Amino acid sequence: MTDAASTSSPHGLFVSFEGGDGAGKSTQARLLGDWLRGLGREVVLTREPGGTELGVELRNAVLHGDHVDARTEALIYATDRAHHVASLVRPALERGAVVVTDRYLDSSVAYQGSGRDLGADEVERLSLWAVDGLLPALTVLLDLDPVAGRARLTGEPDRLERAGDEFHRRTREAFLGRAAADPGRWLVLDATRPVEDLALAVRERVGPLVAATALSEGVA
Ligand code: TYD
Repeated sequence: MTDAASTSSPHGLFVSFEGGDGAGKSTQARLLGDWLRGLGREVVLTREPGGTELGVELRNAVLHGDHVDARTEALIYATDRAHHVASLVRPALERGAVVVTDRYLDSSVAYQGSGRDLGADEVERLSLWAVDGLLPALTVLLDLDPVAGRARLTGEPDRLERAGDEFHRRTREAFLGRAAADPGRWLVLDATRPVEDLALAVRERVGPLVAATALSEGVA
């Protein structure tokens, strides 16, 4: 993390889910969103790449485009993220919403920085620049052996899913290393645990954070 990075958002709460393909991020993001809505909070459930209209085009280019080299790939993800944060995430946080995103900047550091070998620090700097330093208050890592993750996938594999076991092993190690270095921001969960157990563990960690934002807003 650099000095420019900020873990706090103006009024709302920013939470990201990270992990390998097939780890169950979108299920957990949805369950968290449902729970928070039940508490009366505005929730914006989103994802990267592809959380905006432009992002859908960028997602298609990066996942299915031809001849996308590693630096181009990193820049497309960063572009998607810059637009996502400027047009959707920051405005939602400024209104006091809880934003739950299925993947964020740590995916770029792990996949492009370590998986593609572009260098974690450089890719982190690029991503932080793209979002003007915005970091989640909490990042949930659903940790899973990539071989087990692959077995859970359905449909034709995209460019990233085709990148091979060594690539996915490096990516997993990068996520775990980042989480160990910053336990205040990260919650690491074994993605093989039952869905409801995982949802409960996420709620236990999010509960106090969401209560604190409600207090600072004067919401009961
Ligand atoms: P995702 O939408 O999570 O996959 P799925 O199609 O299974 O829902 O992400 C698509 C792929 O993009 C995934 O393999 C991880 C990769 N990715 C990166 O390599 N870097 C990034 O910065 C992001 C956000 C995703």
